[in-house]
Amino acid sequence: MRRPLVAGNWKMNGSLSSVRDLLVAIKANITQVSRAEIVVCPPAIFLPETQSLLQDSPISWGGQDLSIYDSGAYTGEISGPMFQDFGCKYIIVGHSERRTYHKESNALVAEKFAAAVKFGLIPIFCVGETLEQRESGATEDIVAQQVDAVVEHGSISLLGQGVIAYEPVWAIGTGRTATPDQAQDVHNFIRQRIANYSQDVAQSVRILYGGSMKPGNAGELLAKADIDGGLIGGASLNAADFLAIGMAAN
Ligand code: PGA
Repeated sequence: MRRPLVAGNWKMNGSLSSVRDLLVAIKANITQVSRAEIVVCPPAIFLPETQSLLQDSPISWGGQDLSIYDSGAYTGEISGPMFQDFGCKYIIVGHSERRTYHKESNALVAEKFAAAVKFGLIPIFCVGETLEQRESGATEDIVAQQVDAVVEHGSISLLGQGVIAYEPVWAIGTGRTATPDQAQDVHNFIRQRIANYSQDVAQSVRILYGGSMKPGNAGELLAKADIDGGLIGGASLNAADFLAIGMAAN
């Protein structure tokens, strides 16, 4: 039985005071979420505050990206051990915004996945196609290459130590959501792809949907057999909306 996971990707948003308010509001009503595991991923600079506010709660937290190195002369980077120091359980890797704006390749994302696992963090590994790729019928090829990169860099058991997030790039922050059937088709494809390597991993790995998931569409998406939760951007910045998505998994 895969426990649903609802993770908030706050991206580069918030201030110390708004982060406090948001965390306090989520924590105050977290008991309404009975089944899903709830995770917040604020900008790294707010992790100390996040840790101190959430450490006695059932809510987990994580980072949005990490270095492949553990320490050294890598200006501006943050390593796995540093995230661990602040109690992070999860770390997002391979988000499409990093793939696009920071030119992260499948190979680099696979290295980041391995670095996260090495330092005891659970990667939330993002995959997904652009609109152009979808329209040219390349969705499955693109997603297969992204998934295979982790297996090729490491192994199927490495992949099994993460969580996958299918995020069609055309649905991120656009208000345009994949239909539940479109999402389910790709989730099922990913699970079948993994099953070629290992049935056990295919059955146990959680595959989240991301891309304009909101309280109004979460129920239908989460009802699909292969959708095990959500990676939420915009709607995770509002405590009531974020919790409503968590509750949709009840
Ligand atoms: P969105 O972002 O919910 O705002 O579309 C999702 C994401 O980028 O993870």
